[in-house]
Amino acid sequence: MTVIETLKSYLSTDPGADVRAALRADHERIRELAAQMAEEKTAGRRRALLAELKPLVTAHARAEEQVVYGAMLELRGAKEAHDLGNEGFVEHSLTDVLLERLAKTDLAGTDAWKAHATVLKEMLEHHIDEEEDAFFDALGERFDAAELEAMAIAFERTKAALDGGAEGQRRRR
Ligand SMILES: [Fe+2]
Ligand SMILES: [Fe+2]
Repeated sequence: MTVIETLKSYLSTDPGADVRAALRADHERIRELAAQMAEEKTAGRRRALLAELKPLVTAHARAEEQVVYGAMLELRGAKEAHDLGNEGFVEHSLTDVLLERLAKTDLAGTDAWKAHATVLKEMLEHHIDEEEDAFFDALGERFDAAELEAMAIAFERTKAALDGGAEGQRRRR
């Protein structure tokens, strides 16, 4: 069964949803948090912002990879869509590296914070701009309304499952 066939099995309750609206809503919050992280001066606020941004970006990216990139990479004869998907995976992995470094080495009290947070903000802005431009266009061209709706439902479910797992891990620490 293809990704899109699996996704269609989710269809039922939420007519009119479009995965691009769900992605855009996360993108707005991600942009805000990343901009604040690059400007923030106090260690406590920096850590609090990272504690919100990291699980949001991580769950968003993994759900996006599974649901949206997965469907794009399955398309036949769609080299541009495949290139966009593959570039997206690489950009996600670089974002993961910066988020891990900010968290694991706890840079919040150091001068290195601003450099890392600024590069992270610029990478996220570039990535999100590209997704909302070429990537969203490709989704609109390649998938019909029912498929985009199925992706929206699957994206939210996948993200909730991932974020719920991360929340559980945080609580167990
Ligand atoms: Fe995204
Ligand atoms: Fe992305």
